[in-house]
Amino acid sequence: MISVRNGRPGRARLAALGAYVPERVVTNAEMQERVDTSDAWIVARTGIRERRFAAPDQASSDLGVIAAERAMAAAGISAESIDMVIVATATPDHLFPSTAVLLAHRIGARNAGAYDLLAACSGFVYGLAQASALVESGIARTVLVVGAEALSRLTDQTDRATCVIFADAAGAAVVTSADPREVTGFLGFELGADGAGADDLLIPAGGSRMPVAMAERPSDGYIRMNGTEVFRFATRIMVESTERLLAAAGLGIDDIDLVVAHQANSRILDHAAERLGLASERVYSNIERYGNTSSASIPLALTEARDEGRLTPGDLLLLVGFGGGLTWGSTIVRYEPVSGEPS
Ligand code: UT7
Repeated sequence: MISVRNGRPGRARLAALGAYVPERVVTNAEMQERVDTSDAWIVARTGIRERRFAAPDQASSDLGVIAAERAMAAAGISAESIDMVIVATATPDHLFPSTAVLLAHRIGARNAGAYDLLAACSGFVYGLAQASALVESGIARTVLVVGAEALSRLTDQTDRATCVIFADAAGAAVVTSADPREVTGFLGFELGADGAGADDLLIPAGGSRMPVAMAERPSDGYIRMNGTEVFRFATRIMVESTERLLAAAGLGIDDIDLVVAHQANSRILDHAAERLGLASERVYSNIERYGNTSSASIPLALTEARDEGRLTPGDLLLLVGFGGGLTWGSTIVRYEPVSGEPS
C-alpha cells in the first residue's frame, strides 16, 4: 500500500463480519473419554458443552482465510482493495513468516501490507484499535482484521485443566473509511497490559528463551495456565475496563445494546453482568458451543450475534477482550454495517 495524506481522513467503520469454525465437534462426552473429567464439571465450571477442533491439515491461517473471505463478501469488497491485513493470533502457523502474510497471499490481497499481532485473547480488540487508527489517520482506507486460532494444537490433550477449555476458530472484520457525517464508528478504546502476570498464561517453549529444540519436556511446548489467577484477573478487568471506557466516553451501561466479550468462561460473563447491572440477555454468549477460542472468540461471537438477528443497525456494542500477557482491551462501536452486510 502507498499512503499520501492529502485528504481529510474519514471515520473508521466496522463494515462487515465473517467467521469460520472447523467441522469437527468435540463434545464433553468425548473429553470424558480422554481425561479424568465429567460433563457436569465442565458445564458447571466453564459453561462449555462442546468445541471445534481443526482438521489435521488445518492451521490457523486456513481457518482465517475462510473467515476473511466471508467478511470480504459481506462487505462487498475485493481482496485488491485491502490496504492492510492484521492477524491477531497466539497460535501462528509459524514463528515467521507471519500468518498474516500467508493469509494475505491466499486471499489475493496483493496491495496490502500484512503483520501478526500478539495480544492473546485481547488480540482482536487490539487489532480493531490499530485498524481504526490506520483508517482515521488516512494511512489506510480498508483494513482486514482477523482473529484465528488453532489452540488445540498447542494444548496438551492429556491435561484436563486446559484441554477442555481451549479450541479452534476464526473470525474477521473489515474496517473501512467512511463519511464522518454518516458513521459514528468507534467511540473509543481502552487497552492495557500487565506483564507481572506473564507466567499465569504462557507457552514456555518455542521462542528465543526456550527454543523447541532445547525444551526439556514436551509439555513445555503447550499452554500452561494458572486458571485461578487468570480467572481473578478476568472477572476484575472486564468490569474495570468497561467502567473506565464508559466514563471516558460519557456513557452509561444502559446506553450499550449488546456486550460481546471474550468467551473464556460463562462464570466470568455472569459475574461481569451482575457487577455492571446488565441483564444477561444484553451479554452475548456462545461459549457452550465453541469453548475458549482466544482472539477468534469476539469476532465469532459478533458474527453469530449478527446471524441470529441480535445486531440491529445503530446498536451500540461494547467489546471486551482479556487474557494472556496479561492483557485487556475494550472498545465501544456503533453497529453500522455496509448495505451488503446481513443485519
Ligand atoms: O482466555 C484467556 C483467559 N482465560 C480465562 O479467563 C480462564 C480463567 N480461568 C478459568 O476459567 C477457571 O479457573 C478454570 C475453568 C480454568 C478452572 O476452574 P476453577 O473453578 O478455577 O477450578 P480450579 O482450577 O480451582 O480447580 C478446582 C478442582 C481442582 O481439583 P482439587 O485440587 O480441588 O482436587 C482441579 O484439579 O477442579 C479440578 N479440575 C478438574 N476436574 C474435572 C481442573 N480441571 C478439571 C476438569 N475436570 N477438566
